[in-house]
Amino acid sequence: MDKREGNASAIVNPALPGLWHGGDWNPDQWLDRPEIIDEDFRLFPLARFKVVSIGIFAWSRLEPEEGRFEFGWLDLIMDRLAGAGMKAALATPTGAKPAWMARKYPEILRCASDRTRDFQGQRHNHCYTSPIYREKAALINATLAERYGRHPALVLWHVSNEYGGECHCPLCQEAFRTWLKTRYSSLDELNSAWWNSFWSHRYSSWDEIESPSPRGENSNPSLDLEWRRFVDHQSMDFFLAESEPLRRITPSAPITVNMMGTYPGLNYRNWGKHVDVVSWDSYPRWHNPDRDDADEASATAFRHDLMRSLKDGKSWLLIESTPSQVNWQPVNRLKAPGMHLLSSVQALAHGSDSVMYFQWRKTRGGAEQHHGAAVDHDGTERTRTFAEVAEVGRFLEDNSDLAGSSYPAEAAVLFDWECRWAIDSFGGFNKPERNYERACEEFHRAFWRRSIACDVPGQDADLSRYKLVAAPWLYLLKEGTAERLTSFVESGGTLILSYLSGMVDDTSLCIEGGFPGRLRRLAGVWAEELDALWPGQSNRIVPAKGNESWLSGEYAVDAFCGILRLEGAEALAAYGEDWYAGMPALTRNRFGKGAVYYLAARAEQRLVDELVARTAAEAGIAPVAAGLPRGVNAQVRRGEKEDFVFTMNFNRQPAAGLPPFGLRVERRPRRG
Ligand code: GLA
Ligand code: ZN
Repeated sequence: MDKREGNASAIVNPALPGLWHGGDWNPDQWLDRPEIIDEDFRLFPLARFKVVSIGIFAWSRLEPEEGRFEFGWLDLIMDRLAGAGMKAALATPTGAKPAWMARKYPEILRCASDRTRDFQGQRHNHCYTSPIYREKAALINATLAERYGRHPALVLWHVSNEYGGECHCPLCQEAFRTWLKTRYSSLDELNSAWWNSFWSHRYSSWDEIESPSPRGENSNPSLDLEWRRFVDHQSMDFFLAESEPLRRITPSAPITVNMMGTYPGLNYRNWGKHVDVVSWDSYPRWHNPDRDDADEASATAFRHDLMRSLKDGKSWLLIESTPSQVNWQPVNRLKAPGMHLLSSVQALAHGSDSVMYFQWRKTRGGAEQHHGAAVDHDGTERTRTFAEVAEVGRFLEDNSDLAGSSYPAEAAVLFDWECRWAIDSFGGFNKPERNYERACEEFHRAFWRRSIACDVPGQDADLSRYKLVAAPWLYLLKEGTAERLTSFVESGGTLILSYLSGMVDDTSLCIEGGFPGRLRRLAGVWAEELDALWPGQSNRIVPAKGNESWLSGEYAVDAFCGILRLEGAEALAAYGEDWYAGMPALTRNRFGKGAVYYLAARAEQRLVDELVARTAAEAGIAPVAAGLPRGVNAQVRRGEKEDFVFTMNFNRQPAAGLPPFGLRVERRPRRG
């Protein structure tokens, strides 16, 4: 393989080396307009498209009536793609079911938590348990695999679309009970683990167990957590079932599912293990009034880093993004000139090996007729958007040897779906401000602002490769996590913990004997109480006596103020007001060869920034580039011979020698 094609051992599919440029294409919507399809093939090379995702919602065109398949059109499309030297990410069509199927088999329609059954319509709304839907999916998928599994255009299976949602139908209730029986050896054990004597909720038969519902049980954190785990399990089970024919018939074709970043409904850590390549649909809200582009870039970086970390740093695919605007926000802004290239390159800088879009051509009708596309309703290559898409295509060709390069991070922010689920389901403290995702983002933002490379693994991850790990709001501690964190610190790692940590076990039962439970000795503090502040109320964090130089000043805190007792840790900062003035608010515990910091309150971003900058420097972590102005970020990807250093300006003004929304990529000899 030629050098321009990237790191051969780490690329997604050697059948399409280099960086991928492409997107969702729906020829199935234009079958009566062959001239449009001809035109698409004229335009693809102008946009420098290499790959298209096809057939995503094509079930009613592939199987217009039960058992009657029409593949002629797809045969032609696949052959034309191959003839044009292009590739297909061929989808299974299960993200939207045909009307005939819903009518004949109402059991495939999803039930809401109030137990009412949906009508046919929309998409992403089938029951994952229904044996009939599973049978129909397996048949169409096996037929697709038999027909196209060895086709020269096939480069990737795009399985279904954006799995999500949940179903509360009788079949799913039964499956939930069956799944619970695999987790608990007896009903007694379940009753204890869910604290069911409370409000007389003990079950005397498995059949009494029902999913959470606004009309039934909706406030037991243990039931809630297990239901969310079940939804993830059942969706995954459906995915594995529908992928089985693909794996069996086409074992060498990689499989992906397009994920949605921090989407709360699925535990993507599990999904990362079962796909061959992680891909995700990224739709930042650029140029919005409540968050400037720098902070939006930081939020996007968090999601890119999260997605990359699902498969241990392996290259991932940006499989959807919009070339211009979306249609599903209340207000849908265009990307300002330059932002398309910048936001596309941002994904590459965080480990993507592709830039792909929803969508190639705007659809004339349907729900998404005004969603951005490479080709607008005017149908030509003369638009601003088309030119910017082609510019991205050129960039990808010019930098194709980036493919398969790695992302070297020595720092991590933990993000754990089960923690989040447990936090979302309890009553108490400060409910409106209880936002786990935001807490993790704030720590990640501190790394991003300093251009320090950062992974976003879960609590099960092997942490030995990191020097610094921030684990905000580690509320639910799974078996083994405390031990892993302890050995990480013992062998020299720096760990940052916060309030809302170590409070419940795997079934959301509170830890006895003082918080943060099994992290207490490690942190050297007892988190005795947690005060919640009303909106408008605040406190201050001030340097602690004897440690005046550790922080540069005072910081506002709000929403959560934890009351600590020192048990070996030293106070670096204290509260400035209220009855807890002078009590510790930020502590450090030297432990083994490492150290643990505990932040007891929700502090303004400036303090998080400073805490991260200081601990990173102490841990010997160098930023990719130092001293960059606000909104300018640097990232690095490590190739076999050289480092690719990206510098990106997310400001509307020139900065760091870059024009507004400008960027620079430099190749440097490998560092380390
Ligand atoms: C999602 C879907 C696409 C499309 C886009 C619109 O990512 O997967 O089918 O609806 O959103 O932004
Ligand atoms: Zn169901």
